[in-house]
Amino acid sequence: MTTTAKAVKSYRNYINGQFVEAKETFPVYDPATEEVIASVAVADAAEVDRAVKAARAAFDSGPWATTTAQDRGRILFKLAEKVRANAAMLAELESRNTGKPIVEAEFDIADVATCFEYYGGLANKVTGSVNPVPANALSFTMREPVGVAGQIIPWNYPLLMAAWKLGPAIAAGCCCVLKPAEQTPLTAMELANWLEEAGLPPGVVNIINGVGETTGAALVTHAGVDKIAFTGSAAVGKIIVKAAADTLKRVTLELGGKSPNVFFADADWEAAVDGALFGVFINQGEVCSAGSRILVEKKIYSKFVEAMAEKAKRIKLGPPLSRETKMGPLVSKEQYDRVSSYLALGKSEAKTAIGGGRPREFAKGYYVEPTIFYDVDNSARIAREEIFGPVASVIPFDGEGEAIRIANDTPYGLAGAVWTRDIYKAFRVVKSMRAGIVWVNHMQPTYVEAPWGGYKQSGFGRELGPWGMEEYLETKQVFVNLDEAPIGWY
Ligand code: NAI
Ligand code: MG
Repeated sequence: MTTTAKAVKSYRNYINGQFVEAKETFPVYDPATEEVIASVAVADAAEVDRAVKAARAAFDSGPWATTTAQDRGRILFKLAEKVRANAAMLAELESRNTGKPIVEAEFDIADVATCFEYYGGLANKVTGSVNPVPANALSFTMREPVGVAGQIIPWNYPLLMAAWKLGPAIAAGCCCVLKPAEQTPLTAMELANWLEEAGLPPGVVNIINGVGETTGAALVTHAGVDKIAFTGSAAVGKIIVKAAADTLKRVTLELGGKSPNVFFADADWEAAVDGALFGVFINQGEVCSAGSRILVEKKIYSKFVEAMAEKAKRIKLGPPLSRETKMGPLVSKEQYDRVSSYLALGKSEAKTAIGGGRPREFAKGYYVEPTIFYDVDNSARIAREEIFGPVASVIPFDGEGEAIRIANDTPYGLAGAVWTRDIYKAFRVVKSMRAGIVWVNHMQPTYVEAPWGGYKQSGFGRELGPWGMEEYLETKQVFVNLDEAPIGWY
């Protein structure tokens, strides 16, 4: 048991429908005050094993196997109801734990409920096919759940990432072991309170906590897990693919990127300047699809950098729970240090239009100034590596061909955007971009109805929409012989 401060709430792992004690706990922080706000139980290898076995048993022999698709849909609707009824509490907790502005956290929580509703509705719309085989037979396909899914998620959109993983898995009939990021497990643990009431039998959804290198790794290598769904860094994605190879698990990966946001001279000026800032600074820049490479046509380049810097000066940094705040602190000391090291690097690799350090007005908290580097060469490290903070690299280009070449010159391929009034040019760029999501005259809108995922080293597999559900389904081919005569071969 922990004996930290009085106000500190403790959370236990949720395994087989029970909240279970653990030998060890770890602290969870408020990144704006640097204070401990909760203590959370560590799931060691033995606990991970219990959680996987609970999920396995629920999948193989529990009542879950005979739950209808309609029932699974209703369970998701109930979960959505619980989330909506507790939205204010969840948004506040999310904002305190991540540092993101409360207004953004409110959007996230609404999206969580919408995600559960979407997959609740999709649960009973999965169908198979009848296949025209040239035989006196009936060939058809059945769609079946993939089994036990290990789901490992990051800290930038904690409960939303949990919903993106749990929603389609529950709808498909899978059982889950979810591991939230160690920085931000609190909202997922609140969700655990409602799983039973929503109608989930014990073991169908287990939520366990701990760092990636131990708890996460134990989940990835466990023979009882059929599939790993991961969102996080490319470095860990590569570790997971290797670790999952021994048991040949299905793996889906969403790994972020270095997405180009491309501005042509004919773009709507006000919308473009706004879109460049929104694309890279929303959620403190801690966004997998952040438009962190801002490509600007030479004809408007200097004026554009100036306008961006001028507007960025007015971005209101502040305490996450204030409704005026447009940018809070970064999520953790570790992330603050990582981003700070890129700020130092950026000063040596490019010119600084604005920012580049820690804002003076905060005595505490992992705040970083919105930073715009310009005259960045696309071969610079600040143009190639994911920074995951409020740091923009502005790169000039001359004409459409060069824009496309620079946009695609990256190991990543999650997203991209193009701004122009010329529809011929817009769609030529859309077609040329090697990325899983391309926006025209906007950047970042994300809806559960449309697919999400990357090309190249941004991962594989898709989340959201029917695509997200596909990743939790196997296809069984059934052949029914209608001819009663023996095969007659021997
Ligand atoms: P990370 O990739 O280490 O963590 C993400 C999740 O993976 C966490 O739940 C963590 O516990 C787990 N994990 C870590 N190592 C693992 C392992 N060996 N086996 C299984 N699970 C493991 O991300 P981190 O260290 O918090 O951030 C580093 C960088 O990753 C960021 O600067 C950013 O560039 C990128 N990132 C990308 C995200 C995205 O949305 N694509 C989200 C978070 C981070
Ligand atoms: Mg890490």
